[in-house]
Formats: sequence, C-alpha cells, structure tokens
Amino acid sequence: MLFEATRDLPLRDIKVQTPVALANTKKLDAKIMICPILRAALGMLDGIFKLIPDASVGFLGFQRNEKTLEAEFYYAKLPPDHKERIAIIIDPMFATGGTAIDAVNFLKSKGVKDIRFLALVSAPEGLKRFCEIHPDVPVFTTCIDDGLNENGYIIPGLGDAGDRVFN
Ligand code: PRP
Repeated sequence: MLFEATRDLPLRDIKVQTPVALANTKKLDAKIMICPILRAALGMLDGIFKLIPDASVGFLGFQRNEKTLEAEFYYAKLPPDHKERIAIIIDPMFATGGTAIDAVNFLKSKGVKDIRFLALVSAPEGLKRFCEIHPDVPVFTTCIDDGLNENGYIIPGLGDAGDRVFN
C-alpha cells in the first residue's frame, strides 16, 4: 500500500555503502508525516516507519462511539512543520468512514494540503461516503469487504483491530 501511495513522489539519487562497494540508488525526496489514528494504527506504524525512516509522525486520537457510530476526537499532536508535509493517514479499519472523514477534516483545518489514506480492510459504504466528502484524498486499501453489519462492523473483516492489537 505504501509503495502505491508514494508512487508519484519525487526521488533523488543517493549513494549507499554495501558490504563491498558504494552503490547508486534512489531515495524518496518528499517531506512526509505519517498519521496513525489511535489506537489500532500503532500496530502498522513500525512497518511503515521502516520504509520511510525520516518521516515525521503526527498522532490523531479518535474513538468511535459504539452506540452512535460517530467518531469522537480526543487527541492530536502534529509536528511543527506539518503544513509543509504530505500526510499519510494510517488505520487498519475503514468501516462507516466517520473516523476517516473527521481525521481528514482535522488535518485540512490545520492547513495540510496533500493527504493520502491507507487502510487495510474497508467497507464499501464507508469508502463511498468518504469519497463524496473528500474526493481529493486518495484511499489505498488491500481489501474491500462485503459490507457492514447492524453494529457497524466490517463483514467478514478482522474484528476489533484495536482490541486485537492491544487487549
Ligand atoms: C476503529 C478503527 C477505526 C475506526 C473505524 O477504531 O481502528 O479507527 O474504528 O470505524 P469507522 O470507519 O466506522 O469510523 P476504534 O474507534 O474502535 O478505536 P481503537 O483503535 O482505539 O480501538
């Protein structure tokens, strides 16, 4: 997903030392801010950081209210130069899309111009809603599942990602 999400970004030439010689290669030439949505996305952060080790991290805290299914904001901490950075929001689950919509609203309100969204598993209802509200923000996902059940869970999905990572 990350390769696809960064495919259009510029590269610059660099040299790296292999065990035997100097080698010419390329490096991403863009200022990136990875934005995990707490909590579940923390399980994806290490893997993404390994691929873009000089990225900054901007934390976004949203908790879905399990009765209303509305996302509730509780925390954010962005790097000071966030306006100049490309934001890559990460979250394993894209269900009703409410959390994703609010996270993008928040970053736009802070002046972030280029925003991309990475989700492991998505529901078509949430994707449709999101794309109507934020058509300028591309979503990269590995899987579009069948849909949502009456509790707003993705079917078949993976269960509650935050609970599976941390409980
Ligand atoms: C889950 C998930 C997303 C959100 C998706 O988080 O990781 O952030 O729900 O639902 P939505 O598309 O319907 O808004 P949750 O709110 O359960 O928080 P957690 O990661 O702290 O468990």
